[in-house]
Amino acid sequence: MRSIAVINQKGGVGKTTSSVNLAAALAEAGKRVCLLDLDPQAHASLHLGITAVDGDASMYEVLCGNASLEQARRVINENLSVVPSNLDLAAAELELAGEVGREMILRDRMQEEEDSEYDYLILDCPPSLGVLTVNALVAVSEVFLPLQPHFLALHGLSKLLRTIEVVSRRLNGSLRLSGVMLCMYDSNTRLAAEVTTDIEEFFQASKGGREFFRQAKFFDTRIRRNIRLAEAPSFGKSIFQYAPHSNGAADYQGLADEVLAQESCNAVHTRKAAA
Ligand SMILES: Nc1ncnc2c1ncn2[C@@H]1O[C@H](COP(=O)(O)OP(=O)(O)OP(=O)(O)O)[C@@H](O)[C@H]1O
Ligand SMILES: [Mg+2]
Repeated sequence: MRSIAVINQKGGVGKTTSSVNLAAALAEAGKRVCLLDLDPQAHASLHLGITAVDGDASMYEVLCGNASLEQARRVINENLSVVPSNLDLAAAELELAGEVGREMILRDRMQEEEDSEYDYLILDCPPSLGVLTVNALVAVSEVFLPLQPHFLALHGLSKLLRTIEVVSRRLNGSLRLSGVMLCMYDSNTRLAAEVTTDIEEFFQASKGGREFFRQAKFFDTRIRRNIRLAEAPSFGKSIFQYAPHSNGAADYQGLADEVLAQESCNAVHTRKAAA
Protein backbone atom coordinates (compact mmCIF):
# COMPACT_ATOMS: atom_id res chain seq x y z
CA MET A 1 0.00 0.00 0.00
CA ARG A 2 1.19 3.53 -0.77
CA SER A 3 0.23 6.39 1.54
CA ILE A 4 0.68 9.86 0.08
CA ALA A 5 0.12 13.26 1.70
CA VAL A 6 -0.49 16.13 -0.72
CA ILE A 7 1.09 19.11 0.99
CA ASN A 8 1.88 22.76 0.50
CA GLN A 9 1.28 25.36 3.21
CA LYS A 10 0.58 27.89 0.49
CA GLY A 11 -3.14 28.21 -0.21
CA GLY A 12 -4.83 27.57 -3.55
CA VAL A 13 -1.98 25.80 -5.35
CA GLY A 14 -4.00 22.74 -6.42
CA LYS A 15 -3.70 20.34 -3.45
CA THR A 16 -7.38 19.40 -3.35
CA THR A 17 -7.89 19.33 -7.12
CA SER A 18 -4.87 17.05 -7.41
CA SER A 19 -5.81 14.80 -4.46
CA VAL A 20 -9.34 14.24 -5.72
CA ASN A 21 -8.58 13.76 -9.40
CA LEU A 22 -5.48 11.66 -8.82
CA ALA A 23 -7.49 9.47 -6.44
CA ALA A 24 -10.25 9.17 -9.04
CA ALA A 25 -7.78 8.32 -11.84
CA LEU A 26 -6.08 5.65 -9.75
CA ALA A 27 -9.47 4.20 -8.86
CA GLU A 28 -10.42 4.15 -12.56
CA ALA A 29 -7.18 2.27 -13.20
CA GLY A 30 -8.44 -0.47 -10.87
CA LYS A 31 -6.58 0.54 -7.70
CA ARG A 32 -8.48 0.57 -4.42
CA VAL A 33 -8.18 4.12 -3.15
CA CYS A 34 -9.21 5.95 0.01
CA LEU A 35 -9.01 9.74 0.15
CA LEU A 36 -8.60 11.26 3.62
CA ASP A 37 -9.78 14.84 3.92
CA LEU A 38 -7.62 16.56 6.54
CA ASP A 39 -8.75 20.09 5.75
CA PRO A 40 -11.53 21.71 7.86
CA GLN A 41 -12.59 23.51 4.65
CA ALA A 42 -13.75 20.02 3.50
CA HIS A 43 -13.17 20.85 -0.16
CA ALA A 44 -12.11 17.32 -1.08
CA SER A 45 -15.27 15.87 0.52
CA LEU A 46 -17.46 18.41 -1.26
CA HIS A 47 -15.64 17.81 -4.56
CA LEU A 48 -16.80 14.19 -4.35
CA GLY A 49 -20.33 15.20 -3.37
CA ILE A 50 -20.03 14.32 0.34
CA THR A 51 -21.15 16.58 3.16
CA ALA A 52 -20.33 15.39 6.68
CA VAL A 53 -23.25 16.64 8.76
CA ASP A 54 -23.52 16.73 12.56
CA GLY A 55 -23.79 13.26 13.99
CA ASP A 56 -21.95 11.54 11.10
CA ALA A 57 -18.50 10.22 11.90
CA SER A 58 -15.87 12.31 10.12
CA MET A 59 -12.16 13.04 10.36
CA TYR A 60 -12.80 15.06 13.52
CA GLU A 61 -14.26 12.03 15.35
CA VAL A 62 -11.39 9.89 14.04
CA LEU A 63 -8.75 12.23 15.47
CA CYS A 64 -10.61 12.65 18.77
CA GLY A 65 -10.78 8.87 19.19
CA ASN A 66 -14.55 8.63 18.83
CA ALA A 67 -14.61 6.74 15.53
CA SER A 68 -12.35 4.47 13.48
CA LEU A 69 -11.42 5.32 9.91
CA GLU A 70 -13.63 2.42 8.85
CA GLN A 71 -16.63 3.97 10.65
CA ALA A 72 -16.06 7.39 9.08
CA ARG A 73 -15.47 6.13 5.56
CA ARG A 74 -17.98 6.81 2.79
CA VAL A 75 -18.06 4.79 -0.37
CA ILE A 76 -18.02 6.79 -3.62
CA ASN A 77 -17.77 3.83 -5.99
CA GLU A 78 -16.40 0.32 -6.15
CA ASN A 79 -12.77 1.46 -5.91
CA LEU A 80 -12.97 4.87 -4.26
CA SER A 81 -13.96 5.97 -0.78
CA VAL A 82 -13.43 9.10 1.27
CA VAL A 83 -13.09 9.92 4.96
CA PRO A 84 -14.78 13.33 4.94
CA SER A 85 -14.10 16.35 7.09
CA ASN A 86 -16.10 19.35 8.16
CA LEU A 87 -15.52 22.60 10.02
CA ASP A 88 -15.36 20.70 13.35
CA LEU A 89 -11.87 19.69 12.33
CA ALA A 90 -10.72 23.28 12.90
CA ALA A 91 -11.49 22.72 16.59
CA ALA A 92 -9.34 19.59 16.62
CA GLU A 93 -6.27 21.79 16.01
CA LEU A 94 -6.96 23.54 19.33
CA GLU A 95 -8.26 20.52 21.24
CA LEU A 96 -5.22 18.43 20.37
CA ALA A 97 -2.75 21.23 21.10
CA GLY A 98 -2.26 20.15 24.71
CA GLU A 99 -2.21 16.38 24.14
CA VAL A 100 0.89 14.25 24.51
CA GLY A 101 1.69 12.45 21.27
CA ARG A 102 -0.76 14.56 19.30
CA GLU A 103 1.37 14.20 16.15
CA MET A 104 0.91 10.41 16.12
CA ILE A 105 -2.87 10.13 16.39
CA LEU A 106 -3.59 9.61 12.70
CA ARG A 107 -0.71 7.15 12.32
CA ASP A 108 -2.16 5.07 15.18
CA ARG A 109 -5.62 5.15 13.61
CA MET A 110 -4.18 4.05 10.28
CA GLN A 111 -2.20 1.25 11.91
CA GLU A 112 -5.40 -0.10 13.48
CA GLU A 113 -6.37 -0.91 9.89
CA GLU A 114 -3.09 -2.49 8.95
CA ASP A 115 -4.77 -5.23 6.93
CA SER A 116 -6.71 -2.60 5.00
CA GLU A 117 -7.80 -3.51 1.53
CA TYR A 118 -6.44 -0.29 -0.02
CA ASP A 119 -3.70 0.16 -2.58
CA TYR A 120 -3.53 3.94 -2.09
CA LEU A 121 -4.32 6.29 0.80
CA ILE A 122 -4.25 9.91 -0.35
CA LEU A 123 -4.35 12.68 2.25
CA ASP A 124 -5.51 16.15 1.23
CA CYS A 125 -3.90 18.58 3.69
CA PRO A 126 -4.85 22.10 4.77
CA PRO A 127 -2.78 25.14 3.79
CA SER A 128 -0.73 25.27 6.99
CA LEU A 129 2.02 23.37 8.74
CA GLY A 130 -0.07 22.90 11.90
CA VAL A 131 -0.94 19.79 13.86
CA LEU A 132 -3.18 18.34 11.09
CA THR A 133 -0.43 18.51 8.47
CA VAL A 134 2.14 17.13 10.91
CA ASN A 135 -0.24 14.24 11.68
CA ALA A 136 -0.34 13.53 7.95
CA LEU A 137 3.47 13.64 7.67
CA VAL A 138 3.85 11.20 10.55
CA ALA A 139 1.24 8.82 9.14
CA VAL A 140 2.35 8.50 5.49
CA SER A 141 5.45 7.32 3.70
CA GLU A 142 5.29 9.72 0.77
CA VAL A 143 4.70 13.42 0.16
CA PHE A 144 3.54 14.94 -3.11
CA LEU A 145 4.13 18.65 -3.47
CA PRO A 146 1.92 20.63 -5.86
CA LEU A 147 3.35 23.95 -6.99
CA GLN A 148 1.85 26.74 -8.99
CA PRO A 149 4.45 28.17 -11.36
CA HIS A 150 4.31 31.83 -10.50
CA PHE A 151 7.07 33.97 -9.16
CA LEU A 152 6.35 33.23 -5.49
CA ALA A 153 6.28 29.45 -6.04
CA LEU A 154 9.58 28.90 -4.27
CA HIS A 155 8.73 31.25 -1.43
CA GLY A 156 8.26 29.24 1.74
CA LEU A 157 9.52 26.05 0.13
CA SER A 158 12.62 25.88 2.32
CA LYS A 159 10.43 25.97 5.43
CA LEU A 160 8.25 23.20 4.04
CA LEU A 161 11.24 21.03 3.17
CA ARG A 162 12.72 21.65 6.61
CA THR A 163 9.47 20.53 8.22
CA ILE A 164 9.43 17.32 6.16
CA GLU A 165 13.08 16.74 7.01
CA VAL A 166 12.54 17.22 10.77
CA VAL A 167 9.53 14.88 10.77
CA SER A 168 11.49 12.28 8.78
CA ARG A 169 14.40 12.53 11.23
CA ARG A 170 12.45 12.56 14.49
CA LEU A 171 9.09 10.95 13.97
CA ASN A 172 8.85 9.00 10.73
CA GLY A 173 12.03 7.53 9.26
CA SER A 174 10.25 6.21 6.17
CA LEU A 175 8.95 9.62 5.05
CA ARG A 176 10.05 10.66 1.56
CA LEU A 177 9.20 13.52 -0.76
CA SER A 178 8.45 11.42 -3.82
CA GLY A 179 6.71 13.75 -6.25
CA VAL A 180 6.57 17.39 -7.30
CA MET A 181 3.91 18.50 -9.75
CA LEU A 182 3.09 21.76 -11.47
CA CYS A 183 -0.55 22.80 -11.33
CA MET A 184 -2.48 25.57 -13.09
CA TYR A 185 0.23 25.68 -15.72
CA ASP A 186 -0.15 28.38 -18.38
CA SER A 187 1.73 26.73 -21.20
CA ASN A 188 1.78 29.82 -23.39
CA THR A 189 3.48 32.16 -20.94
CA ARG A 190 7.21 32.73 -20.64
CA LEU A 191 6.82 33.15 -16.87
CA ALA A 192 5.63 29.56 -16.43
CA ALA A 193 8.60 28.20 -18.39
CA GLU A 194 11.05 30.40 -16.46
CA VAL A 195 9.64 29.50 -13.07
CA THR A 196 9.64 25.81 -14.04
CA THR A 197 13.38 26.05 -14.77
CA ASP A 198 13.92 27.81 -11.41
CA ILE A 199 12.03 25.06 -9.60
CA GLU A 200 14.02 22.33 -11.37
CA GLU A 201 17.27 24.07 -10.47
CA PHE A 202 16.16 24.55 -6.86
CA PHE A 203 15.45 20.84 -6.44
CA GLN A 204 18.64 19.75 -8.16
CA ALA A 205 20.67 22.11 -5.95
CA SER A 206 18.93 21.06 -2.71
CA LYS A 207 19.12 17.30 -3.26
CA GLY A 208 22.73 16.85 -2.13
CA GLY A 209 22.89 15.24 1.29
CA ARG A 210 19.13 15.23 1.82
CA GLU A 211 18.12 11.62 1.89
CA PHE A 212 14.40 12.32 2.25
CA PHE A 213 14.03 13.64 -1.26
CA ARG A 214 16.74 11.96 -3.24
CA GLN A 215 14.09 9.87 -5.04
CA ALA A 216 11.75 12.81 -5.67
CA LYS A 217 10.29 12.79 -9.15
CA PHE A 218 9.54 16.06 -10.88
CA PHE A 219 6.53 14.78 -12.80
CA ASP A 220 6.72 15.44 -16.55
CA THR A 221 2.96 16.00 -16.74
CA ARG A 222 2.02 19.65 -16.32
CA ILE A 223 -1.52 20.20 -15.06
CA ARG A 224 -2.67 22.95 -17.38
CA ARG A 225 -5.08 25.64 -16.30
CA ASN A 226 -8.48 24.30 -17.35
CA ILE A 227 -11.84 25.78 -16.42
CA ARG A 228 -13.45 22.31 -16.30
CA LEU A 229 -11.26 21.49 -13.29
CA ALA A 230 -12.59 24.55 -11.49
CA GLU A 231 -16.21 23.72 -12.40
CA ALA A 232 -16.19 20.03 -11.43
CA PRO A 233 -16.32 20.52 -7.60
CA SER A 234 -19.62 22.39 -7.73
CA PHE A 235 -21.17 19.30 -9.36
CA GLY A 236 -19.68 17.00 -6.71
CA LYS A 237 -17.82 15.09 -9.42
CA SER A 238 -14.27 14.23 -10.32
CA ILE A 239 -13.01 15.57 -13.65
CA PHE A 240 -13.42 12.07 -15.14
CA GLN A 241 -17.14 12.07 -14.42
CA TYR A 242 -17.69 15.75 -15.16
CA ALA A 243 -15.63 16.33 -18.32
CA PRO A 244 -13.84 13.14 -19.39
CA HIS A 245 -12.64 14.66 -22.68
CA SER A 246 -11.20 17.86 -21.20
CA ASN A 247 -7.53 18.81 -20.94
CA GLY A 248 -7.95 18.55 -17.18
CA ALA A 249 -8.93 14.88 -17.44
CA ALA A 250 -6.06 14.20 -19.86
CA ASP A 251 -3.54 15.87 -17.54
CA TYR A 252 -4.65 14.06 -14.38
CA GLN A 253 -4.67 10.80 -16.34
CA GLY A 254 -1.09 11.54 -17.40
CA LEU A 255 -0.11 12.28 -13.82
CA ALA A 256 -1.76 9.07 -12.59
CA ASP A 257 0.15 7.06 -15.23
CA GLU A 258 3.41 8.48 -13.87
CA VAL A 259 2.35 7.73 -10.29
CA LEU A 260 1.51 4.14 -11.29
CA ALA A 261 4.89 3.86 -13.03
CA GLN A 262 6.59 4.76 -9.73
CA GLU A 263 5.27 1.47 -8.33
CA SER A 264 7.67 -0.57 -10.45
CA CYS A 265 10.60 1.78 -9.52
CA ASN A 266 9.69 1.42 -5.83
CA ALA A 267 9.58 -2.35 -6.22
CA VAL A 268 13.09 -2.33 -7.77
CA HIS A 269 14.43 -0.17 -4.89
CA THR A 270 12.80 -2.43 -2.33
CA ARG A 271 14.30 -5.52 -3.97
CA LYS A 272 17.74 -3.86 -4.10
CA ALA A 273 17.48 -2.84 -0.44
CA ALA A 274 16.52 -6.39 0.53
CA ALA A 275 19.36 -7.98 -1.49
N1 LIG B 1 -5.57 23.26 -13.33
C1 LIG B 1 -6.53 24.09 -12.90
N2 LIG B 1 -7.17 24.89 -13.77
C2 LIG B 1 -8.12 25.76 -13.35
N3 LIG B 1 -8.51 25.90 -12.08
C3 LIG B 1 -7.91 25.13 -11.15
C4 LIG B 1 -6.89 24.19 -11.51
N4 LIG B 1 -6.46 23.56 -10.38
C5 LIG B 1 -7.19 24.10 -9.37
N5 LIG B 1 -8.05 25.03 -9.82
C6 LIG B 1 -8.96 25.86 -9.03
O1 LIG B 1 -8.14 26.72 -8.23
C7 LIG B 1 -8.67 26.84 -6.92
C8 LIG B 1 -7.63 26.33 -5.90
O2 LIG B 1 -7.39 24.96 -6.16
P1 LIG B 1 -7.40 23.89 -4.97
O3 LIG B 1 -8.61 24.05 -4.13
O4 LIG B 1 -7.14 22.55 -5.56
O5 LIG B 1 -6.12 24.38 -4.18
P2 LIG B 1 -5.69 24.00 -2.69
O6 LIG B 1 -4.20 24.05 -2.67
O7 LIG B 1 -6.32 22.74 -2.27
O8 LIG B 1 -6.31 25.21 -1.86
P3 LIG B 1 -6.36 25.34 -0.26
O9 LIG B 1 -4.98 25.71 0.13
O10 LIG B 1 -7.38 26.39 0.01
O11 LIG B 1 -6.75 23.99 0.27
C9 LIG B 1 -9.96 26.03 -6.91
O12 LIG B 1 -11.02 26.90 -7.17
C10 LIG B 1 -9.78 25.04 -8.05
O13 LIG B 1 -11.02 24.65 -8.62
MG1 LIG C 1 -7.47 22.34 -0.54
